[in-house]
This record gives sequence, structure tokens and C-alpha cells, in this order.
Amino acid sequence: MSLPRPRFHLAPARNWMNDPNGLVFTGDRWHAFFQFNPEGNDWGNMSWGHASSPDLLHWDEHPVALRHRPGEQIYSGSIVAGDDGTLSAFYTSAYDRGIQAQSRATSVDDGFSWTMDAANPVIDRGSADFRDPKVVRVPGGGWLMLAVEAVERRVVFYASDDLSTWRETGSFGPLGPEGVVWECPDLVRLPVEGTTERVWVLLLSTNPVGDDADPAGSAMHYVVGDLVDGVFHSPDGDLRPLDHGRDCYAGVTFDSAPGGSAMMLAWMGNWRYARVVPSSPWRGAMSLPRTLGLRRIGDALHLVQGPVLPPSDELDASAPRIAPHAVIDVRWDPAAAGTVRLRLHGDDDATVEVVHDPAARTLSVSRTGRAADALHPDFAGMRSAPLADPATGALTVVIDGPLLEVFADDGLTVLSHLVTLGAGPVSVSASAATSVVPAVRVGAVRIGAPAGTAQEGPAAPAAA
Ligand code: FRU
Repeated sequence: MSLPRPRFHLAPARNWMNDPNGLVFTGDRWHAFFQFNPEGNDWGNMSWGHASSPDLLHWDEHPVALRHRPGEQIYSGSIVAGDDGTLSAFYTSAYDRGIQAQSRATSVDDGFSWTMDAANPVIDRGSADFRDPKVVRVPGGGWLMLAVEAVERRVVFYASDDLSTWRETGSFGPLGPEGVVWECPDLVRLPVEGTTERVWVLLLSTNPVGDDADPAGSAMHYVVGDLVDGVFHSPDGDLRPLDHGRDCYAGVTFDSAPGGSAMMLAWMGNWRYARVVPSSPWRGAMSLPRTLGLRRIGDALHLVQGPVLPPSDELDASAPRIAPHAVIDVRWDPAAAGTVRLRLHGDDDATVEVVHDPAARTLSVSRTGRAADALHPDFAGMRSAPLADPATGALTVVIDGPLLEVFADDGLTVLSHLVTLGAGPVSVSASAATSVVPAVRVGAVRIGAPAGTAQEGPAAPAAA
């Protein structure tokens, strides 16, 4: 079994990809850099790949932007656009001698060519686990860099006026589950729906480590709080799940997004089994881009995610076998229907079931079947998320080859999963516990396979 390529999600033509790095809107395009192995489709030789898009759905891949060097891999980081249009990339220099430190490179041509600073690394604490710098512009002036002390489960903060000299302002953590490393932090100021208020939110990824590591694997979280004197604080210190699926990790937002929106991309992968995902010659894909915001429910603020959906043509519901590149919209009368099930079944003996249970107030997604069992012992199974508003009878399910994203509660409840439904047609059926028939609208996505990205074949020049 080889998983089909996604069509409207960012995935490299060939070779390994993990975290998004250096997301920036510049020169009228969305640029995404990402953890990339220029030499193979396993993790290693970490470098920054590069792609750009006019609309976040059609991606063109470009030559490698920052390449690993003898003794130094280029780990995750971020990009900010200065007032004169110069881009500054901050990345982790992961030295073979065991030290991780933060370095800088600059570009004056919208990210197509880069010059590494002669003074690198720019911040070195002598730490082996200091990584993933995210630089953000602070309202009122200046810049803030967040990075993790991964093993200590801390986010450390540095301030700068010129992107060259940095002074430490403090740290956040440790808190939440133990037995994990913290990775890929981001700090965003999100609008609260229906108000003019904006509130600081910390995004954070955690990955289980140790002999007895949690088989659930990698996960993303968010914390609502405030930024005071260059350090994030949270009164409740609550790490809440950002996505309840198995495959949403290392998500960060774009710098300089139009309208100041917080547009996030995440890696759709899980370190628990990422290395054995059966796709070739590429391995790794990003989530749909999602605009982040906050919704107030009672006393609490909750993260909401609005996906950028691809254009689609509505199909006749009497032809419920679709190519695995579609947007499926399910609606029903929640008072009359009871539990609603959406079932997707692919040729590769794999089934995905999405179950909306208003009595239990849960939304669950399960992946079962021989193809799911074969991928990895911890791959098959069910994930369940609490529903904030079980009285909303609506689900949006996006499928793009091996990528499945489920949005419920009007963007408040999200589950993202890799799936093994195969490259052939997928059958779609929805049923309810009562005689109510849910209305299913299937939209076939209009975006075709990008040129030069055959499943197997000659090397694509972009990633050579
Ligand atoms: C997260 C991560 C980062 C690191 C990168 C290396 O997935 O482990 O902490 O910078 O991947 O590829």
C-alpha cells in the first residue's frame, strides 16, 4: 500500500517533510518553509524546504532554502518581515556536538536566496534542547523571540529592538503533563468573536519521551493568557488540546498575514509512527490553513479554527462514491436525529467513522480495517472529543488522499487524522439513530494533481 498524494494540501514532491518553519506572507504570496530532508524520505539532513502559494491551496515547490552543513542541521524556526521588506529567518542550529542554539539568515528577494549571519549562532545557552525560535512583532514596537527548553518543559522569551541583539525577559512553564518535551511554541493575539477584544494565546506542541512514552504520541495545545513585560502569563495555566485528532503537530502562524489574521499551518503527522507512513517518494504533509480566533462560552475563552476550504463542485448525492479529494458537509436536525454517523470506506480495506453523539456530548473519529492495522500497532483506533454545543447539527469533513480533517461546533472542535482509505473511490454514507436522514452534500474538489508530482517517477527538479 502506498498512500496517495494530497492535491490541495502542501506536501513535497519527494522526500521527507515535518514541521512548518518560517511561514510568511510577502511579495503577494504565502511562503511556507518546512523541515525537509533534501537527500531522502526519512528524517535526517534537516534543512528548510520552500514552497509558495497565491491562495494557500495551490502550492509551488522551490529549491531548498537553508541547507544542512557539516556538523550542523537546520531545525525549526520562523521568519519575520522587517519594515524594509528584508526577511529574517531564525532557526535552530542543531550541532553534531550536541548543542542547540539559535541562528539567523536574511533574504532580500522574498525568501528565494538567503545569507547566514557571520555571527551565528546569535543565542547560545550551552543547552542540548534549546530550539524552535518563533519571532513575533510586539504591538507598540520591538520583537519577541520564544523558544523552548524542550526537556524542562519551558518556553523562554527574549526581546530585541533590532533583530540582532537579544535579552532574556523570562520564561513560562513547566506545567501540564510530564514525560513529554515541549516543541514549536507560537504566540498569537487573537480576536474574540463578536467583540473588538484581542487576547494573547500561546500555542505549544508536546511529544512523549522515555521508555514508557504515551502511545497517543504527538499533540498540540493552547493556553490563554497575557503578555506582560515580554513574558507570557496564564492565570489558569491550562494546557488545552488544540486538535483532538492524532495528526496535528508543530502548528505555527504566518508573519505579516493580510489583515493581521492568525493563519496557522500544522504538520499532519505524529512522531509515534511518522517514520513508517507508507508514501513514496514523498513523506509528510501540512494541514489545511486555518484562521485562529477565540469564542467566549460562559466564563472561558475557547480556540476556534476556520479552515481555508478548496473550491468544489457539488455532486449528486445518489452517487456517493467519490474520489478521495472532497469536502463533505453533513447537516441534520439535532433534536430529532440522536446519534449521527458518517462512514467512509475505501478500497484498501479501511473504514473511517465519524460519530456525533449529542447524549454523550462527544464527537469521535475512528480508523479501522486491515490497512490501518498494517501501518503501525498504535495507528488504528478511536479518538473522542467533547462537544461544546451538541445542539449544532453540522459537520464539515475534508478529505485529501491520506488527510482527513473534521470540523464541528463551528470550528471549536477539530480532529485531524492521517487515513488509509487508498487512492480509489471512497463510499460515503450517513445515518442517524432515528429515522431522520442527515443531509449530505459532497463537493468534489476542483484542484487537480499539481504538474510534475507523479506518485512515482523522475526526480522533481524543485527538490533536487
Ligand atoms: C518537532 C521537532 C522540533 C525540531 C524539529 C526537527 O517536530 O522535533 O522540535 O526543531 O522537529 O526536525
